[in-house]
Amino acid sequence: PTGPLVLGIETSCDETAAAVVGRDADGGARILSNVVLSQIDEHAAFGGVVPEIAARAHAEAIGGIVRAALDEAGVSLREIGAVAATVGPGLVGGLIVGATAAKAIARPLGLPFIAVNHLEGHALTPRLTDGLAYPYLLLLVSGGHTQILLVEGLGAYERWGTTIDDALGEAFDKTAKLLELPHPGGPSVERLADGGDPHRFPLPRPLRGEKRLDFSFSGLKTAVRQTAEANAPLEPQDVADLCAAFQRAASESVADRLALALARFRDRFPDLADPALAVAGGVAANGEIRRALAALSERTGVRLVSPPHALCTDNAAMIAYAGLERLEAGERDASSAPVRPRWPL
Ligand code: KG4
Ligand code: ZN
Repeated sequence: PTGPLVLGIETSCDETAAAVVGRDADGGARILSNVVLSQIDEHAAFGGVVPEIAARAHAEAIGGIVRAALDEAGVSLREIGAVAATVGPGLVGGLIVGATAAKAIARPLGLPFIAVNHLEGHALTPRLTDGLAYPYLLLLVSGGHTQILLVEGLGAYERWGTTIDDALGEAFDKTAKLLELPHPGGPSVERLADGGDPHRFPLPRPLRGEKRLDFSFSGLKTAVRQTAEANAPLEPQDVADLCAAFQRAASESVADRLALALARFRDRFPDLADPALAVAGGVAANGEIRRALAALSERTGVRLVSPPHALCTDNAAMIAYAGLERLEAGERDASSAPVRPRWPL
């Protein structure tokens, strides 16, 4: 690699992660290491992330994870040019652990500390993985966020749509929980949906056909609960059919909003040579949602960019990369930046 290497740290939710990212001689981004420790097992018994447990686990793990990221990259701290950390949005305890660790590494070495918005990390991931040029459209669907973003440049984001209630991943997780399926719910629901009939139980399609680009999923979750109660006790096939119906409703809702967003994107940038829709977030792993987006891409001629799963879910490579872009844009030191549990892009 050439130019500065950035050490990135991510601790905003239930992954303790560190990574080293730089650039190749041709200007493309290079991931030298990307280490992620998931706390899923520690939270599994509670059916969701417990903030207090998360903060403690981050504090215990962060030192070893940073060391592992440096070792895997084969570099020493002396070769690092800047340290970036997620300072929001997220759970405050974890954010403090990550930001404090990053500052503690940066300060004695005289390195710039770069404060990164977690959502910016997701938003820039298709540039890290595919070198995508600005502007592009991004669908971010995770456990905490459901957004359609126009990414016009570094720090230039327009939120075109968001959820008015639950995030899509959260809806998958809550649906799984009420059907007594293991956490995290997304993969559980998808596995069962494969053997289910999506047409047996009618579920609503919230906000379908509306002209605004927002999402709503809590009504869907409630409809699953009511259907489950009306058909209790549920046989395994009932659960599979409900999962299939939920997943179908979710993917149709995503495709419906995205169709509208893509039309607006084409209107706004009619001369773009290579219009692209990128996806990010854990829910982007869902096969049915991927198929729906692929069909949409086919129909509209907008290229679909889906980064590898490990870079769609929470990781530190995306934070290091966002830090690298900020460093290249001249940003130097944010060591007085506070952590921000709420921080819209
Ligand atoms: O991006 P992510 O790893 O973490 C954040 O929320 O930031 O996303 C996790 C979410 C969880 O809600 C999980 O249930 C969901 O992504 N998820 C899925 C699938 N894999 C993970 N949802 C649907 N289908 C999947 N295959
Ligand atoms: Zn995330």
